Amino acid sequence: MTDPNGTVILPDASAKTLQDIDPTLDLESEIKRLCAEKNAIILAHYYQEGEIQDLADYVGDSLDLSRKAAATDADMILFSGVTFMAEVAKILSPDKIVVVPDAEAGCSLEDSCQAEPFKAWREAHPDHISLTYINCSAAVKALSDVIVTSSSAEYIINNLPKDQPILFAPDRHLGAYLKRKTGRDDMVLWPGTCVVHEQFSAREITRLKSRNPKALVAAHPECPETIVEVSDYVGSTSGILNFIKESSADTFIVATEQHIIHQMQKDAPNKTFLAAPGSDGSCNCASCPYMALNTLEKIYLALVNEAPRLELSEDLRTAALKPLENMLDLAPKPKAAQNAA
Ligand code: 13P
Ligand code: SF4
Repeated sequence: MTDPNGTVILPDASAKTLQDIDPTLDLESEIKRLCAEKNAIILAHYYQEGEIQDLADYVGDSLDLSRKAAATDADMILFSGVTFMAEVAKILSPDKIVVVPDAEAGCSLEDSCQAEPFKAWREAHPDHISLTYINCSAAVKALSDVIVTSSSAEYIINNLPKDQPILFAPDRHLGAYLKRKTGRDDMVLWPGTCVVHEQFSAREITRLKSRNPKALVAAHPECPETIVEVSDYVGSTSGILNFIKESSADTFIVATEQHIIHQMQKDAPNKTFLAAPGSDGSCNCASCPYMALNTLEKIYLALVNEAPRLELSEDLRTAALKPLENMLDLAPKPKAAQNAA
């Protein structure tokens, strides 16, 4: 499969498939054995199934995982998250083999922001610099000035000259949140949204809170303003985890992808976590359909087949590298290593 954003080399006809996996195989031990044999490291996002988080060498938010991908001395990175995250690993570590469990694990924000219209948008605002959320393709990164993540965006904006006009893409809810937090009222926003965070209901969260009056609401800034308004804490996935660890409260309503609750339960086993509901009162909406494509079976196959494998042309990689390096330079420096699995 080839596209202008880069190339995903799919498994060839001789590769093992799901049907070839012996159902009695102990997948966890086989994955660990393959990682040792191939000097591979597994990086996983907090939105992965608990069993994947438990198996990973490192679990983190987008910024943590980028840093880990840049620093590892492994020969192979198995990235269990979504494809743009693995693409970042390949941009930062071009000599490593970077494989993903499922090449179809995209992101609605990335889909909303194609390179051609993004380029035209930039050209229509020649005085603006472009701060682009990491949830985008390599081609869009290559057209951007600085990449940001939800844990670094506010800090980076606050360190830009006050009179510097800014374009922010592709998440309009994160962009609107950053406008409110930084006072950059004239920041121009791309209209993308996350399919997961858009579905929470402020009304249902308020109803849940009225039944659990001591519960604190923690939300990701990809949520719409109505959700942010009813929240006690707003931050990135790692920010939310730190808030919960440090808070003296014992019940939390979690307005982000529900698989992060696995990490919360590990960090704070005596606390109670309630997944924030959508408008029908259920919490099924809080599952990322792209992240959910990854399974232990597909991780095993990706290690065996060394595919699906990310490749990028050197021109695209170096163009996308510059704004990513700007992010790593400008982002707040990490506290002591945390969140290790
Ligand atoms: P974090 O940077 O907070 O991990 O967010 C990534 C993401 O895709 C949220 O939907
Ligand atoms: Fe993209 Fe939303 Fe899934 Fe994050 S949760 S990967 S922003 S679709």
